[in-house]
Amino acid sequence: MCGIFAVIGSREVSSLLIDGLRKLEYRGYDSAGIATIDNLNNDQNGQLNVTKSKGKLINLSSLIKKKPQKGHVGIAHTRWATHGKPNERNAHPHLDSSGQFAVVQNGIIENYRELSKRLKVKGIKLTTETDTEIIPHLIGLEIEESLANGLSPNEQTLLLAVQKVLAVLEGTYAIAVIWSRTPNALVVAREQAPLVLGFGEGEFFCASDTPALVGLTRTFLPLRDHEIALLTPLGIELYDDDGNRQHRAPSLLKGMELFADKRNFRHFMLKEIYEQPETAQLWIDRFLPVELPSHNPVAFPISKSILEQIEQIQILACGTSRHAGMVGGHLLEQFAGVPTKVYFASEFRYAPPPLSPNTLTIGVSQSGETADTLAALRMEKERRDSTKDANFSFHHLGITNRVDSSFGRELDNVIDIGSGIEIGVAATKTFLGQMLSFYGLTLQFASLRQKRSPQEILDLSNDLRLIPKQLSDLIKKHDSLSKDLAHLFVETKDVIFLGRGINYPIALEGALKLKEISYIHAQGYPAGELKHGPIALLDQHVPVVSLAVPGVVYEKVLSNSQEAKARDARLIGVSISGPESEMFDELFTIPKVSEWVSPLLTVVPLQLFSYHIAAHKGLDVDQPRNLAKCVTVE
Ligand code: F6R
Repeated sequence: MCGIFAVIGSREVSSLLIDGLRKLEYRGYDSAGIATIDNLNNDQNGQLNVTKSKGKLINLSSLIKKKPQKGHVGIAHTRWATHGKPNERNAHPHLDSSGQFAVVQNGIIENYRELSKRLKVKGIKLTTETDTEIIPHLIGLEIEESLANGLSPNEQTLLLAVQKVLAVLEGTYAIAVIWSRTPNALVVAREQAPLVLGFGEGEFFCASDTPALVGLTRTFLPLRDHEIALLTPLGIELYDDDGNRQHRAPSLLKGMELFADKRNFRHFMLKEIYEQPETAQLWIDRFLPVELPSHNPVAFPISKSILEQIEQIQILACGTSRHAGMVGGHLLEQFAGVPTKVYFASEFRYAPPPLSPNTLTIGVSQSGETADTLAALRMEKERRDSTKDANFSFHHLGITNRVDSSFGRELDNVIDIGSGIEIGVAATKTFLGQMLSFYGLTLQFASLRQKRSPQEILDLSNDLRLIPKQLSDLIKKHDSLSKDLAHLFVETKDVIFLGRGINYPIALEGALKLKEISYIHAQGYPAGELKHGPIALLDQHVPVVSLAVPGVVYEKVLSNSQEAKARDARLIGVSISGPESEMFDELFTIPKVSEWVSPLLTVVPLQLFSYHIAAHKGLDVDQPRNLAKCVTVE
């Protein structure tokens, strides 16, 4: 969370900075700011100018429009508050007391309290509540000492000072720094928070994520942990934390055409819901081509020899990605017969289960940058590596939409779900891509362990191949239905979502989607649990959404739904149409499909239902309050 963008070159940068932030706004949007150096007399004594604003980027951009800010170098930040309220004072960039150094930071400086005490001793008074403000002050002190020792005020002196400050910082962060006395220098560094360098023509960039580079350059290089870079109008120098110069070939951005264009949709979320048939088709074309034999049904880039050793699986993820993991867990156990546990990554890290032998650890994250998931994976690697027992080796796999992320760099085996960039903060098409990847793994394990007959493998594969068309029909049908129903729920305060078996995670996902974008309290339950407590909440003001899909638990879910209806709850069904569905006050019909593939379809009406309620309430669907697309703090 938080987006950093920085530029150095030969043209005015303030509008570039605002454009860059616009492409990163999904990372945080409670305040924003830029700092540039106006090199007034073309000597080495520029003036640092800063503009900050509370709220959305639009506020900052109108300030800059009214009062343009000069400079050929600048840093910019869009914030998701961790330390200190989201207000103008706490917005980045932060300055030292002399107003010469400006810093933007994404992440958390864990030892900032201790470091601020050191600053206090030196008579420095902090003016914000953030953990970031200590950094420009510390850099200022280092520079003061360097200048006193005879060093010149040049970019190498700045680089050295930042290196010294990094050595005392603890936490996970990425920073960008400028100094008014070096208008031809920009220093950036990373410690477990994402940062990429961009190589333009006569100008160089740095950003928290590649979308910010679109339209400026296709050539980029992700920084690695502990690396620091000096950007000047002439090029980029990259160093490791021992000061050794690093040389790596940059990569080329791919799929930029998919970037942030709403087309004719009112919101990115709706566009991304509509893109799901394409997501599914691309996935099927890539991983499930018809010509593959039943003993090797999926074209995943994972070595068979690894999978053969696996006796159990643990899945680590957060939020929507964990719900995809739960669908995966059900499939892996029930279809492929592999014992599987799904964990909240944030809990796993501090309460891991005892080590189990021959275990595959799967991390799931659309962004590939979620701090909790990365930390849990790193912890698991560390404790398994330290046993030195081959039975406990760290077999691992990542499922992500961003192979150019920390997931892609840190994990040896990664399934790229290939959903295309997702801008809406509420995950939709990436959830579908994650679930599909679990179907792929399930087919692979089921055939490898001969848990299912070739015919069963073929049936599931063929059912998956029908999904794109079914999705497309469902979206068309339920978009207008949910739009028509939305006004009925505008005043609703609580909604209960019920599902069982493979559709229980979809009940959780439906509730999460509704609460995060419409701010209506919603709870997902396994339908059988209703009578063990939540039923006490029900009356005519609490609607119940029930996922009733023919299969193992169909009759059970129908009776659980009847229990809700008997308490006067308005009952909304996601079910097939037939005599049983008459009990529902509203019905989102789904086609008769095998229960195994049903989650790929049942989630769609729930996404649309949440979307239309939020849109009807006039809420900011794509950037809901307090949330960010990429959660890079624990
Ligand atoms: C909900 C949502 C979040 C994310 C969660 C994990 O719509 O998007 O719950 O699923 O923050 O994010 P990733 O998948 O990037 O690890």
